[in-house]
Amino acid sequence: MQSSVKKPTDEQYAKFKALVENQLGLDWSREKKYLLHGRLNTRLFELGINYDEYYELLIKDRSNREIELFYNFVTTNKTEFYREPAVFNWIRENIIPALREEIVNGLREKIRFWSAGCSTGEEAYSLSFETQALAGMLSDVSNGYKILATDINTQALVAANKGIYNQEDIKNLSHPILKKYFIHTPSSENMITTYMIKDFIKNL
Ligand SMILES: C[S@@+](CC[C@H](N)C(=O)[O-])C[C@H]1O[C@@H](n2cnc3c(N)ncnc32)[C@H](O)[C@@H]1O
Repeated sequence: MQSSVKKPTDEQYAKFKALVENQLGLDWSREKKYLLHGRLNTRLFELGINYDEYYELLIKDRSNREIELFYNFVTTNKTEFYREPAVFNWIRENIIPALREEIVNGLREKIRFWSAGCSTGEEAYSLSFETQALAGMLSDVSNGYKILATDINTQALVAANKGIYNQEDIKNLSHPILKKYFIHTPSSENMITTYMIKDFIKNL
């Protein structure tokens, strides 16, 4: 379906820019008009309305249904397992040993990580793998781990909960990690293997 919705004017763009900055904390200071139009034009075409009318619909949306769709359209869900390896190295080299020390010395019982903006789950699951490695070093605190994963994008959250990934998604993961934490399911139809996070990791 070809959309014929007119691109937003500067004034229309400014309203949406303020909305995403205020409601989501997204930085649209660099011109993102192309992104707004690229993500929304099909929806506006379906609804048969222009940008001003869509803005009105959003701010009067008592059911939150359209605003939820809007957030799903405008958020960018780029992620991967161990994305930003330097951060994970830093966690492994600094945070995990410090937590281990506190546990060994009886100063800490519980470990909590929060993946705020978890997208489709890869970051939260990467943190789970790291806490499992820590749990392996400490046999007595197996119940003390919790990973909280949140996101404004409801479609991404559904995928995160499912925890099913494809060959490309798991390219950063080592064989031991794949073996310990995933169930591999080769499809009989198309020979594509899917990798599903095991329940004990999902339940962390
Ligand atoms: C680029 S992804 C990064 C995902 C993951 N943290 C990573 O680094 O691999 C950013 C995520 O933040 C989410 N997000 C953006 N604004 C948010 C907000 N105000 N509250 C919760 N999640 C938000 C988006 O939906 C998106 O899934």
